[in-house]
Amino acid sequence: MTTGQRQKLLVFRELPADQLARLHAAHDVTVANPRIPAQLEAFNVALATAQGMIGSSYPVDAALLERAPCLQVISSISVGVDNYDLAALAGRGVLLCHTPGVLTETTADTIFALIMASSRRLVELANLVREGHWTRNIGEELFGHDVHGKTLGILGFGRIGQALARRAALGFGMPVLYHNRTSVDLPELAGKATHRPLDLLLQRADIVAVTLPLSSETRGLMGAREFALMKPGAIFVNGARGAIVQEDALLQALDHGTLRAAGLDVFATEPLSLDSPLRRHPKVTALPHIGSATVETRHAMAVLATDNLLQALAGERPAAVFDTAQI
Ligand code: DGY
Repeated sequence: MTTGQRQKLLVFRELPADQLARLHAAHDVTVANPRIPAQLEAFNVALATAQGMIGSSYPVDAALLERAPCLQVISSISVGVDNYDLAALAGRGVLLCHTPGVLTETTADTIFALIMASSRRLVELANLVREGHWTRNIGEELFGHDVHGKTLGILGFGRIGQALARRAALGFGMPVLYHNRTSVDLPELAGKATHRPLDLLLQRADIVAVTLPLSSETRGLMGAREFALMKPGAIFVNGARGAIVQEDALLQALDHGTLRAAGLDVFATEPLSLDSPLRRHPKVTALPHIGSATVETRHAMAVLATDNLLQALAGERPAAVFDTAQI
């Protein structure tokens, strides 16, 4: 990588002003978000000479890379790398950086919030108050279900899965089952979190939460067979990637199966289309992909992504390089 001279950077998603200033101080920067029609032309022009890119939530595939012949590094402001064609990046020798670690606790908070909201019907009941329907004490038909003491099944046991397990096991007295390639030895969760095959976990858990990365192995993992294995009255929560779930099968399980409710922060297509049946489904709590969306965490992600980019352009090893052999 060329070092010590100003290079051409393309910022393809909004960056906080303090981080943008760091880039401007050292390099020539174009800010153009291809998702905004008025900025697409500027994005395409800048792509042709960009040596570094920083942003997220935009697919970077082989065709896009062909239009970026000078590109050496992409710094993604996300932990997930499913928007990037990893083989094409590796083939071109483009370095990919991401933001693990800094969003772990916030994302686990969001997933736990969905567990609470779905089990205790928080959004539905808050809307009842807002809409003026709280005219007498609510009856049993509107009662929720306990979260504490229930068995939580976690699909994926990386940083976020483990953070979720700590909340559940240590805070809410929930036995945790997890499904992962390997068993993970965590002293603080000894005797409280157990490695289980997928089918057994689905059969035993009262609440199933997905924290897996999206890959060819996990795409469509939750289908009709898997939902049918879940306990009657179980709750399903997805805080990872929408495409891990076959949404038709989820709807079928909610409408005709025994699934009690679903809490979803992610969808196969985002933003969720206005005609998606998941948007207003009475058993679904849907959020607009806010897993890491707090002021503190989004800023920490921007700082780490900016560090990664500046380090790579200076010829140093960035703090968080994604190993493309991992998936
Ligand atoms: C991530 O960092 O991967 C979050 O899901 C935001 O895309």
